[in-house]
Amino acid sequence: MNAHFPAARPRRLRRTPALRRLVAETRVRPEELILPLFVKEGIGEPNPVASMPGVVQHTRDSARKAAQEAAEAGVGGLMLFGIPEFKDERGSGADDPGGVVQRSLRDLSADLAGDIVIMADLCLDEYTSHGHCGLLTPAGEVDNDATLERYAAVAIAQAAAGVEVVGPSGMMDGQVAAIRAALDGAGYTDVAVLAYAAKYASAFYGPFREAAEGAPQFGDRNGYQQDPANAVEALREVELDIAEGADMVMVKPGLAYLDIVARIAERVSVPVSAYQVSGEYAMIEAAAEKGWLDRERVMLETLLSYRRAGAGQILTYWATEAARLLR
Ligand code: PBG
Repeated sequence: MNAHFPAARPRRLRRTPALRRLVAETRVRPEELILPLFVKEGIGEPNPVASMPGVVQHTRDSARKAAQEAAEAGVGGLMLFGIPEFKDERGSGADDPGGVVQRSLRDLSADLAGDIVIMADLCLDEYTSHGHCGLLTPAGEVDNDATLERYAAVAIAQAAAGVEVVGPSGMMDGQVAAIRAALDGAGYTDVAVLAYAAKYASAFYGPFREAAEGAPQFGDRNGYQQDPANAVEALREVELDIAEGADMVMVKPGLAYLDIVARIAERVSVPVSAYQVSGEYAMIEAAAEKGWLDRERVMLETLLSYRRAGAGQILTYWATEAARLLR
């Protein structure tokens, strides 16, 4: 044997598509994708979100159609966000039985229950006039414990409207326990909690705040969302949420936090989800629009990276399109 020949040749298994397919360690499947949907009250036509090409604020009817299409493409779940026509200090629309999300939940569970998992974001920022995720103290700070009572009421309203999984995203301490107790107390023991356990105070949420009209009117969320500098703290948040009864935990954003996904996935025994947030979507769409990136390839590569890091479920605005490409 020629001494210059390499003894090991990893390239042998990369030679053909069939070989690569055979040895692939990770796959993305449509049923693991979750589509976020924005439903806005009081609009006659879907309203495009400028910073998220391809994403709209839905009417109740167009949300039904988008949900149907997602289910037909094999997408595993829907995460509903509501934008009310009127906002107030306490976010009354969030737990109004006639509120936008509750109405839409009734529509979607009538159409699709059993075909796709119906989830709703549970927070107040889209519903409050000040845009914060909770009630404010007279000094203008977010009042943790008073907010928990509001979240409990929202959970019950969403459960009564047919939600299967609630996703508390406000990062209040004790929110999972408060929601679990409220759901159980009202007889909704089967409604699951997907906790946005490790949610960072991220600039990647920029476009979402246009889509959901939930930008804080003053200050920022640094007092309740996590510092991007911290990883160990994410483990603590996750441990607390699981102890409080979380059925699933989520990391958010995803791409810049895949190290957090990996650390959590190694440690816990509940499903770990990750959210490919609005800013990640917008960056790739914008670069693709300029012809600087191959949109579909980058889309699928990022989703694969989430899975490789250990995410079970991925929330992505591309869910329906990606599911079709993957089939
Ligand atoms: C809060 C919430 C936010 C997102 C999901 N839920 C925004 C925030 O915390 O400011 C962001 C999602 C995204 O950027 O795609 N209800």
